[in-house]
Amino acid sequence: MKDVIKLKDAYNSTDFRKIGHELIDLLANHLDTVQSGENSVVYPHQEPNKELQFWQNDFETEPSNTLDLFKTIIAHSTQLQHPKYMGHQSAVPAPITSLVALMVDFLNNGTGVFEMGPASNAMEKIVTDFTSKKIGYNENASGILTSGGTLANLTALLAARKEKGPNDVWEEGHKNRLAVMVSEEAHYCIDRGARILGLGDQGIIKVPVDKDFKIRTDQLSKCLEVAKNNGLHVFCMIGCAGSTATGSYDDLEALAEFSMTNNLWFHVDGAHGGAVVFSKKHKNLVKGIEKADSIAIDFHKMLMTPVLNTALLFKKGSDVYKTFAQKAQYLWDTPESEEWYNSAKKTFECTKRFLSASPYIILKTFGKDIFEKNIDKLHDLTNELVQLLLKDNRFELAVVPESNIVNFRYVSNLNDTELNNLNLNIRKQLIESGKFYIVQTTIKEKRYLRCTIMNPLTSKTDFVELLNDIEKIGLQIKKRLIL
Ligand SMILES: Cc1ncc(COP(=O)(O)O)c(C=O)c1O
Repeated sequence: MKDVIKLKDAYNSTDFRKIGHELIDLLANHLDTVQSGENSVVYPHQEPNKELQFWQNDFETEPSNTLDLFKTIIAHSTQLQHPKYMGHQSAVPAPITSLVALMVDFLNNGTGVFEMGPASNAMEKIVTDFTSKKIGYNENASGILTSGGTLANLTALLAARKEKGPNDVWEEGHKNRLAVMVSEEAHYCIDRGARILGLGDQGIIKVPVDKDFKIRTDQLSKCLEVAKNNGLHVFCMIGCAGSTATGSYDDLEALAEFSMTNNLWFHVDGAHGGAVVFSKKHKNLVKGIEKADSIAIDFHKMLMTPVLNTALLFKKGSDVYKTFAQKAQYLWDTPESEEWYNSAKKTFECTKRFLSASPYIILKTFGKDIFEKNIDKLHDLTNELVQLLLKDNRFELAVVPESNIVNFRYVSNLNDTELNNLNLNIRKQLIESGKFYIVQTTIKEKRYLRCTIMNPLTSKTDFVELLNDIEKIGLQIKKRLIL
């Protein structure tokens, strides 16, 4: 009897309404606090095991007020809405998307089959068609939304293998040694995807980059020739738009030309920087992108949408159906037919979250040019930080960025090993202070502080404060070492 009552409680609308109203007030107040940037922590530093211990203890205590639990979760989380959040490439989501999340989780409509998500399938077509147009694809294009850039890139490689591989690996298994070509700066998910496809070490041909971290197009023919001589069948060329470490854009025009000449599938990993297709001012960075056979663009990076939400677009729409040619009689009667409204025919996922709602509602609520405004703002802000760094001899840039990713290091009268240690410790202390959140990376054996400018509410004052704090910490560390 007691159990039945508890189960009913979990579905009761009175509590849902009450907690819901309280939660929205809590989040809106929290948003005001973090966005003001005053007296609020960006990153609640804690040792992982201590954090685990905290939640283990919490889990064992009697259930408390749900609102208090929400407050605790917020206090133990990284605050992406904070103007001093300049860390990883996750979007600072437009707050309306939290309401979208509430609604889509409530509805729990997937997107695998039309009957389980009529609105979600239709809205997905609208969002992907809208993005295709921005790319410059014609009406033959088609796309899907999927759970992240990693999965989108893997899906594109599967389509590429189907189209350009020497045999149908999906049906017959491997009969040849296959390979893909990509810049040595590509995100690790390309390497991982290629290995999942069974290509092995030799099947991932990493083309060197130039001083700006762009693929060396003068090396492409040589790399292909060497691969062929080694008995490999190269089926795909992948371009970075832009790369993860430095945000550098490959010459997509040249890669498209090379792919066409050599009968390769051309895929663009635009998970981070492909978003510039929405901006008239910055679209030139991806000149030639419309020649790609497939393109991945994360909505959850520069496009104001929470994780995970990626568009995978195909120039020739019918290619999207070739990737997963599989029978699933319980889902649909005609596996071979092209039905845009049964999304699972085209995606890795069977049940898929209602992804289209967030980008659709952002565009409908704030206007079709809202992504453009965000991209332009993030680039303008990045430029402000870059200008400060260029004028300031306390710092050194790894490269003048094309995108919103800035790698720089604090320099002092020390050798490279000492500078590596110094910058490592500066970041550690900086984020432990809770005042800023930035990350770090190593490029050509030099350790850099890495800022990705994701928050349109960040300002020049935040940058000035950041650089001064870095110097202050750097000087303290140096002083301690000398003493
Ligand atoms: C260029 C690039 N490609 C792919 C990915 C992976 O995307 P996701 O994290 O959405 O799986 C990233 C992530 O940072 C990226 O920067």
